[in-house]
Amino acid sequence: MGETSRPRLGVAMIGYAFMGRAHSQAWRVAPRFFDLPMAPDMAVLVGRSDAAARSAAEQLGWREVETDWRRAVERDDVDLVDICTPGDTHAEIAEAALAAGKHVLVEKPMANSVAEAEAMVDAARKARAGGVRSMVGFTYRRVPAIQLARQLVAEGRIGEVRQVRAQYLQDWLADPEAPLSWRLDKEKAGSGALGDIGAHIVDLTQFVTGQRFAGVAGMLETFVKERPVAESFSGLHGKGGSERGPVTVDDAALFTARLDSGAPAVLEATRFAWGRKNAMRIEVSGTSGSLAFDFEEMNVLQLFDATDDSRTSGFRRIIVTEPDHPYTGSWWPPGHGLGYEHGFTHQVVDLVGAVAAGEDPTPSFEDGLHVQRVLDAVERSSADGTRWTQV
Ligand SMILES: NC(=O)c1ccc[n+]([C@@H]2O[C@H](COP(=O)([O-])OP(=O)(O)OC[C@H]3O[C@@H](n4cnc5c(N)ncnc54)[C@H](O)[C@@H]3O)[C@@H](O)[C@H]2O)c1
Repeated sequence: MGETSRPRLGVAMIGYAFMGRAHSQAWRVAPRFFDLPMAPDMAVLVGRSDAAARSAAEQLGWREVETDWRRAVERDDVDLVDICTPGDTHAEIAEAALAAGKHVLVEKPMANSVAEAEAMVDAARKARAGGVRSMVGFTYRRVPAIQLARQLVAEGRIGEVRQVRAQYLQDWLADPEAPLSWRLDKEKAGSGALGDIGAHIVDLTQFVTGQRFAGVAGMLETFVKERPVAESFSGLHGKGGSERGPVTVDDAALFTARLDSGAPAVLEATRFAWGRKNAMRIEVSGTSGSLAFDFEEMNVLQLFDATDDSRTSGFRRIIVTEPDHPYTGSWWPPGHGLGYEHGFTHQVVDLVGAVAAGEDPTPSFEDGLHVQRVLDAVERSSADGTRWTQV
């Protein structure tokens, strides 16, 4: 099937920095490596400064620019709106796009509060009735080793899930002079490590186990209360000036929890773990085995099978790059590993597939709302002396 014979899917992307670059790459690459049922057209990039947006559009491969997202979501040549801005804008943009009949992909955390997330779910439900799809960008679900972990749990390869430990460890704030950016401002980000990276391990635990969190006991900590205001910032790093400002979010979030089967879990999200750059880890211990994953070795899934001969048993190191592993057959020969950006490409593949098939993609806005409720329960618990709190 030639590309021109596929229905066109006009895309508008809002925000073009860290996530905007990752999503642009995914929109560019997905149709080149996967047999997509629609042809994404990178129609419009939205940025607030015309000159900067034009330069970004040229570099990232977008055809035109707008300086107000409201104009972009109303355009006739836009079918899907991809939201890559900080959390304080997600609800307003998503609701407007859905009301205009556009499919929506919104970055995580879906919103900055449960109330915003509930309003987004309402908007998504109304739009769904008219065939409009919505999805949250919990990208790590699309790492092949994570998909395999979910399959193995669902197949019973480790028996019943008894315990989960999940961590998301980074160190880019451990230096007290690392500058203030929007991620340290509650108004913009909703919360700190909790919503930024804790949201990922909440989603991941639920995705891998196929269960939901029922209750939590949480502890939030802010180690550095004031920092230099950023003069420039890109990705997770920037340069601070002489002015200082307050940190209004948590630096680390720790919580114990129970899944709805009653299985206990321990979760930790911190940006203060010196030496850990992007160590998103999950380990699930079941009645007959264990699974372990660490994003710093993202092509590998570790499986321990307790039914193996005890003389030769041990964690099996599965390199998840075989043609019959999830997504990997469209890439390189076995062992020629994938990287961070591939999860975003898989996200586009699954989203476009769902839109073309007239199906609802996952994670849905309902899934995003549930994660928001877990984050909210951790905050309430922490504020109440780490008391056990229902989600
Ligand atoms: N899926 C993941 O793994 C992952 C990783 C990092 C960030 N994120 C999420 O992605 C979102 C964006 O984070 P980021 O790291 O890309 O931030 P960033 O600061 O690098 O980029 C934000 C972009 O939004 C633009 N922007 C802000 N307000 C705008 C407005 N009103 N109109 C138009 N543009 C606007 C900024 O100019 C910038 O281009 C956040 O929700 C974040 O939590 C997800």
